[in-house]
Amino acid sequence: MSAPAPELALDVERIRADFPILQRTVRDGHRLVYLDSGATSQKPVQVLDAERAYYLRHNAAVHRGAHQLAEEADELYEGARGKVAAFIGGQDNEVVFTKNATESLNLVAYSMSNASVFGPEAERFRIGPGDEVVVTEMEHHANLIPWQQLCLRTGATLKWLGLTDEGRLDLSNMDGVITERTKLVALVHQSNVLGTVNPVKAIADRAHQVGALVVLDACQSVPHMPFDVADTGADFVAFSGHKMLGPTGVGVLWGRYELLETMPPFLTGGSMIETVRMEATTFAKPPQRFEAGVPNIAQVIGLGAAVDYLSAVGMANVAAHEEQLTAYALQALEPLSGVTVVGPPTNIARGGAVSVVVDGIHSHDVGQVLDDLGVEVRVGHHCAWPIMRRFHVPATTRATFYLYNSTEDIDAFVSGIEKAQRFFS
Ligand code: ALA
Repeated sequence: MSAPAPELALDVERIRADFPILQRTVRDGHRLVYLDSGATSQKPVQVLDAERAYYLRHNAAVHRGAHQLAEEADELYEGARGKVAAFIGGQDNEVVFTKNATESLNLVAYSMSNASVFGPEAERFRIGPGDEVVVTEMEHHANLIPWQQLCLRTGATLKWLGLTDEGRLDLSNMDGVITERTKLVALVHQSNVLGTVNPVKAIADRAHQVGALVVLDACQSVPHMPFDVADTGADFVAFSGHKMLGPTGVGVLWGRYELLETMPPFLTGGSMIETVRMEATTFAKPPQRFEAGVPNIAQVIGLGAAVDYLSAVGMANVAAHEEQLTAYALQALEPLSGVTVVGPPTNIARGGAVSVVVDGIHSHDVGQVLDDLGVEVRVGHHCAWPIMRRFHVPATTRATFYLYNSTEDIDAFVSGIEKAQRFFS
């Protein structure tokens, strides 16, 4: 390996000791090299223990019981809400728990189409013919399709900001795309394919100048960098627990309180009501207004433990560590002939998602050679098909980094690609 290995910001061996899965071997005894945290992260014992302790000691339905277990469950559940809120610089009553980021984004989209049958307080969310929704060409399908469907349901028009050849947003005509007609701008903070970190505040400022709402997909940023909702300028922020050391089955929608307060609900039923008569219902204040039914209690508590874990490590340290790994990977891939990085070539305004195309070899074949060596990456279109079309590639091989990865993991990725080139030559 030609690139000199830096002294990393985090003590990887110490961190890895908290992740039992990383001790196992795969494919005939190979060390597990897990480079697919962009898809889902691994979980430390602290998160597993928190979920288990809840089921062993406190299991009860939250927000409806009058007994001791219910009180304890309420305390743990609402305690986790407080932890998540503090982690992103929001208020407790601005944090809505969902199933995942996809549900969080759909929640806003469906609330907007429900606004047509709500009273004047929901005016801000009404959308129809003549209105426009602006997205970007680098969106994950979860932050594209809900808006396409919203436009289909309401007669609004979908527009988008394109990409430069380097994989950054083309903002040269931002004011021509985000106009007085724009009702909502939905964009990703850090691309799950390109690693690009977008200048969200500047885009949010333009959106607010024309009176549009801003929805931010923060799935690949909240887990990886210090994050404060106020710094982004967004009105709504969506992310998933499972990508930030937490369990699957829990996501977050953060929204500015004054917006959540007037936004029509999406899912209706128990726990989200104020009064119910046979003829009509009034709804609870946020966040309960958006948490119908018995929620994902154990998962929320697990997410609280994940937030504790990340906070103890320090998000600035996580970001610094990943920046080092990204620089190391880009440097190591650079001399490989026939290997192209799809995305920014330097780690300026760029996170730890490194996608490559290997000339003449489909990413599925590259992935198979890597898998045989114990190197687990994601191959395909990464639920962001428009990016593949923009760069005229069918698929990419993507490595994503997290706090438990080392330069040794990246060496294994790079030498696996070289092996694939030899194998298929
Ligand atoms: N959104 C996840 C990824 O990029 C699943 O892999």
